[in-house]
Amino acid sequence: MPNDHIPAPMEGSSSFAARESLHVKQLEAQTSALRSSVICAFNQLLDLKDLNTGVHSTRLAEWGMRVGRELGLEEAELQNLEVAALLHDIGKVGIPDSILRKPERLDPEEYALMKKHSEYGWAVLRMLPGFERAALDILHHHESFDGKGYPAGLTGAEIPVVSRIVCVIDAFDAMVSSRPYRKGLPYQEAVRRLNEASGTQFDPVVVQSFLSFAESEMSPVFAAAGTSVSSAL
Ligand SMILES: [Fe+2]
Repeated sequence: MPNDHIPAPMEGSSSFAARESLHVKQLEAQTSALRSSVICAFNQLLDLKDLNTGVHSTRLAEWGMRVGRELGLEEAELQNLEVAALLHDIGKVGIPDSILRKPERLDPEEYALMKKHSEYGWAVLRMLPGFERAALDILHHHESFDGKGYPAGLTGAEIPVVSRIVCVIDAFDAMVSSRPYRKGLPYQEAVRRLNEASGTQFDPVVVQSFLSFAESEMSPVFAAAGTSVSSAL
């Protein structure tokens, strides 16, 4: 009498695990390729708007990842941090050139419009699957540790840690970088200002972490400005 209960031959569990692992690796590679493509596409957009912050953004990403690792961020958060550092100002694409390029101080109305760039960046990036978290980090990159920032007025740990990191390194890079209409600050003055605003505008833990390696990272910044670190210190 035939045995109806003989189970069908099963695939070895090791080959099943190997196939699963290959599948996961393929998905990770696809996700990584998508992330790179999105960053490239948005950088092209920034180029079109003549807002290319290429060197600035790359520098922010490198510094940010260094701080993030020191603060013990997990891999997924580090990936969001990279995207947020590279694309934090993507929303400026929606700001009129007359405001973006105005060399004088912005009037209150213009400043209010300029501040919209973090919301604009969030509104665009959140549409992309896998970028929702980075979009939120971008939304909050101008929050202040004491709650006086924008757009939500979040305080301390309410502000996403990635946003707190981008906020510090973005501010520092902006201080030491030269613009067509003004020269960058000397390194020590930028450090003084960062320390002065530590605990009010900036997360003190992030400031401390960044300053632990900042000086050794300054050569390319001051080389680009046509000075040397030692003369700029
Ligand atoms: Fe910004």
